[in-house]
Amino acid sequence: MKPFRNIINEKPWIAWILFGSTLVIVFLLGLLAASIIERRTEAVFAYKPVVNYPDWEPRNTLWGNNFPREYQSFMKTADTTFRSKYNGSASIDMLAEYPELVILWAGYPFSQDYLQARGHFYAVTDIHKTLRTGAPLTGKSSPMPNTCWTCKSADVPRLMKLSGTADFYKGTWETRGHEIKNPIGCVDCHDAQTMNLYISRPALVEAFQRMGKDISSVSHQEMRSLVCAQCHVEYYFDKQRIKNVSYLTFPWDKGLTADDIEKYYDEINFSDWTHNLSKAPMLKAQHPDYEVYLTGVHAKRGVACADCHMPYISEGGQKFTSHHIQSPLNNITGSCQVCHREETEKFINDVYERQNKVAENRRKLEELLVRAHIEAKTAWDKGATAEQMKDILTLIRQAQWRWDFVAAGHGNTIHSPVETSRLIASGINKAQEARLKLTRLLATLGYTDEVPYPDIPTKKKAQEFIGLDMQKLNSDKQEFLQTVIPEWFREAQKREKDWDEQRRNTQK
Ligand code: HEC
Ligand code: HEC
Ligand code: HEC
Ligand code: HEC
Repeated sequence: MKPFRNIINEKPWIAWILFGSTLVIVFLLGLLAASIIERRTEAVFAYKPVVNYPDWEPRNTLWGNNFPREYQSFMKTADTTFRSKYNGSASIDMLAEYPELVILWAGYPFSQDYLQARGHFYAVTDIHKTLRTGAPLTGKSSPMPNTCWTCKSADVPRLMKLSGTADFYKGTWETRGHEIKNPIGCVDCHDAQTMNLYISRPALVEAFQRMGKDISSVSHQEMRSLVCAQCHVEYYFDKQRIKNVSYLTFPWDKGLTADDIEKYYDEINFSDWTHNLSKAPMLKAQHPDYEVYLTGVHAKRGVACADCHMPYISEGGQKFTSHHIQSPLNNITGSCQVCHREETEKFINDVYERQNKVAENRRKLEELLVRAHIEAKTAWDKGATAEQMKDILTLIRQAQWRWDFVAAGHGNTIHSPVETSRLIASGINKAQEARLKLTRLLATLGYTDEVPYPDIPTKKKAQEFIGLDMQKLNSDKQEFLQTVIPEWFREAQKREKDWDEQRRNTQK
């Protein structure tokens, strides 16, 4: 056979054909590669809605047609079986577990009823059921404003769009009852067009504005926590801003730590209620999950709420975000062990060890606070003056604020073990200082015995001690649940049927 070079020399057109066909092959290969990449990205990102719905659609079932995996995992938040040592998805009756809390909240609705949170699926059911919203039977009003719906329902963004934020908050809680049906859902965290993470609640945007920050320019990783910070935060109702409106406000202007927030409240002379026994001007911490999380090492290393509470999972070769938001202890492999290498059992022990240690002193502080409230009441009974009581009541307010800032967030002690220990220690200090002053004051009033600790081994006894008529509260609530709630539900169903009809008509 002749060498290739000779063939080319004899018939140069062969070289041209070879050159040309190589070009064509390379070009075709390029096309193929591009097409494969395109298909791949399409498979991942192409969003071809199966069902169309408006941007404000509150029903998870509709969104679920387009995103079945995320929807099905969201529906698992209905599962209440998991319980860890301190948390989990079962509704733990916190007052039965810790009857001291009834005394700490005397005069405030939390002393009637307080359950540990369960899954997002139950948010609307549980706000109907709690005694804290009262029993607004026909003609009666709830003690709570409409603002309380803000963190419970996917109907909220729709209603805020319709009437404006301030108008949404206006009025007592029962006046919007018929307008709210769907629990927390897709529209609360996602833009319906792009499915990007989205802040639907104005209070968070406004808090950022007041701190001079633009929430629309934060990183994607920060958004994976900020969607939660729409609700899992400390808040209060600002009644000064707009007349007759309980305006939802995050007290972050001076910073987000317990001390910064306390300064903010002190400066505006704010208190949530006056304690029934001690008459101290009290603060109630709501659930400062985001604020406490920020002080922990995970936040400092850029780990977001979603990293632990919404881990990726794989199903049929598809990787997606689990929307079964729950205690990560029910899925250590998917959450913690993505970054940590310890065995599951060791790891759970690490968590419990931190929780146990903070709880040990937290329980001590609860007892001290019960004593302080009751000793303060004794001082009033013995004729103490407001002037004599002023510093003492401030100390009680401060001690209980520190306790509540830790206790009110069920993940706080593991989110930030060091800061929560510091707060409890500081609370113990303040409570002891209050009690020392009380002992001296009581002595000057001629009382030198020990003020007896109340007999409060159960929730029932503690509630009797502060004079609550639980039978009446419970029976009114039952009547409300049996008569008013079905009416609200019927109205909501009719509204949603009308939407579906309208949609069908426009699509014809
Ligand atoms: C509490 C906030 C929240 C709610 C409610 C929520 N999501 Fe998500 N969703 C997230 C977060 C966080 C991610 C992760 C986004 C990221 O990192 O890009 C996500 C991701 C997604 C994605 C992107 C693909 C994936 O799996 O990572 C889809 C699609 C999605 N969610 C659909 C839904 C649907 C459908 C619902 C309602 C059933 C819903 N989401 C409710 C927070 C939420
Ligand atoms: C629209 C308000 C809202 C948003 C947004 C929200 N939550 Fe919640 N979350 C709630 C409410 C209300 C409950 C209590 C529901 C109940 O007990 O009925 C709750 C309960 C929980 C629980 C307890 C679940 C259990 O099984 O015990 C966890 C954990 C949780 N949320 C984490 C998150 C995380 C993480 C995010 C962000 C990805 C988030 N939440 C976003 C309002 C919200
Ligand atoms: C995205 C990565 C990531 C995930 C997920 C994660 N961690 Fe961590 N964790 C870290 C980093 C980073 C540190 C800081 C220590 C270091 O730099 O080595 C840390 C530190 C810790 C510490 C020691 C510090 C302390 O606060 O006491 C504990 C305990 C811990 N993690 C528990 C958990 C648990 C429980 C989970 C799951 C619910 C979890 N981690 C999930 C990254 C992660
Ligand atoms: C490093 C992982 C990690 C991060 C990040 C994290 N959490 Fe948690 N969270 C936990 C662990 C662990 C628990 C304790 C669960 C238990 O005791 O069963 C917990 C508990 C909770 C609970 C109570 C759960 C229950 O069962 O009732 C809520 C609510 C919560 N976290 C919300 C948040 C929010 C909101 C953020 C972000 C601001 C966040 N978490 C960030 C690991 C994490």
